[in-house]
Amino acid sequence: MKITVAGAGYVGLITSIGLAEMGQQVTCIDVQEEKIADLQQGKPSIYEPGLESLLQKNIRNGNLTFTVNPSQAYSGADIIFIAVGTPELPDGSADLKYIFVAAHTIAHHLNQDALICTKSTVPVGTNHLIHDIISGRIPPSIKIDVVSNPEFLREGAGLFDFFHGDRIVLGTDNPEAASIMEQLYLPLKIPIIKTDIKSAELIKYAANAFLAAKISFINEIANICEKVGANVDEVAYAIGQDKRIGSPFLQAGIGYGGSCFPKDTKALVQIAGNLEHPFELLEAVIKVNNRQHHLPVLKAKEIAGPLRGKKTAVLGLAFKPDTDDIREAASLTIIRELQLEGARIIAYDPAGVPNTRKIFGDSIKYTEDLKEALQDADLAIIATEWDQIKHAPLNIFTDYMKQPVIIDGRNCYSLSDIEKHGITYLSVGRPPVFASAAIQKPWKLFG
Ligand code: UGA
Repeated sequence: MKITVAGAGYVGLITSIGLAEMGQQVTCIDVQEEKIADLQQGKPSIYEPGLESLLQKNIRNGNLTFTVNPSQAYSGADIIFIAVGTPELPDGSADLKYIFVAAHTIAHHLNQDALICTKSTVPVGTNHLIHDIISGRIPPSIKIDVVSNPEFLREGAGLFDFFHGDRIVLGTDNPEAASIMEQLYLPLKIPIIKTDIKSAELIKYAANAFLAAKISFINEIANICEKVGANVDEVAYAIGQDKRIGSPFLQAGIGYGGSCFPKDTKALVQIAGNLEHPFELLEAVIKVNNRQHHLPVLKAKEIAGPLRGKKTAVLGLAFKPDTDDIREAASLTIIRELQLEGARIIAYDPAGVPNTRKIFGDSIKYTEDLKEALQDADLAIIATEWDQIKHAPLNIFTDYMKQPVIIDGRNCYSLSDIEKHGITYLSVGRPPVFASAAIQKPWKLFG
């Protein structure tokens, strides 16, 4: 079988490498020539643990090729995955222009029967549109079927999720198409759920919206914990033991970011709104998340007074650990607000510095060395729970900072460890720790 993957972004690349690793012949096509030239050399366009070696291995063994040539990619293809981006339009809805360009290009070059399998996150009805675009432009002798096969890959764990996901969803109106896809995925031994196309399209949005809701829910509980002096870690642990609730995604913090939850929640609000059904619950989830992003600088001002001229280390830039992706990261809001306050900012991240530099240029300092970030700092704000931060010996804060004051947006340390080190520490939904009684006085947020 010849498999073609349209799009060499995060989803397209992981899908291509995963299928090639399963022994399939995969051609991955993208319009970005530079990206494809790098990939042909085995240089990945994204940072993802384990990806580079699997990419190079499958190029070497001939299972995986990259091209910008649509005729080479689509002619003779049996299964074509569409994995192009669906970015956010100003009104929050999904921009489908890349989907439609891909569909037109496929139609132009298709020369045999094929399955068109959509991995991109698309509003309900899009797969039927893709079917109509392609089938309306190919000779009647060529037959296509469309399958909605949403992805549930987490950045930073994408390859693991490809091989060990909880389920594979196949939405199609033709049982034969579902069975071809089922055969393809069978070696992974992941449970397969077959649905109609529209349900599959909605499953993706519903899954991301539910996970986002879980995060905003626990963040609201954290905010209440702060007011009453409770500890959200204990609350989250105890409610998570109820199997109906479950413990994943109950980590309180300064809100979700990334290229998926922010975009997909807004798109689902739009989809519902267009159907004259306001999705009020999801609107509140988004509002709570936006509010969480603002908390660190509010807390910083409460604890440290005016921030003008104060050296502030922002620890962690990526929207979560193990990625260089900073899209919609809480760190960006924090940096912008610190700039407005006139703080002197040094930003630390093991992988996210180059992307952050593209946004803030020389207006802030950057480092990939934690100690350099903390040297003589008045304040440290933790925005991402990288292992390098979580497992750092706590004495680096006391040894290097001018005064050890940490605003921890990801609850990286235990309160008892912090107490032992004489650090002033404000985390999320947990009682504050004060290094000395003097610093306690200006603190207003905690009753
Ligand atoms: C998310 C979903 O988890 C994937 O299943 C889905 O395929 C993907 O979106 C997508 O639509 O493509 P991802 O955005 O890579 O994956 O990252 P997550 O691990 O889900 O984390 C998202 C954000 O939530 C991060 O900013 C993280 O810090 C935050 N988060 C996560 C919390 O604040 N608390 C938690 O308990 C869990």
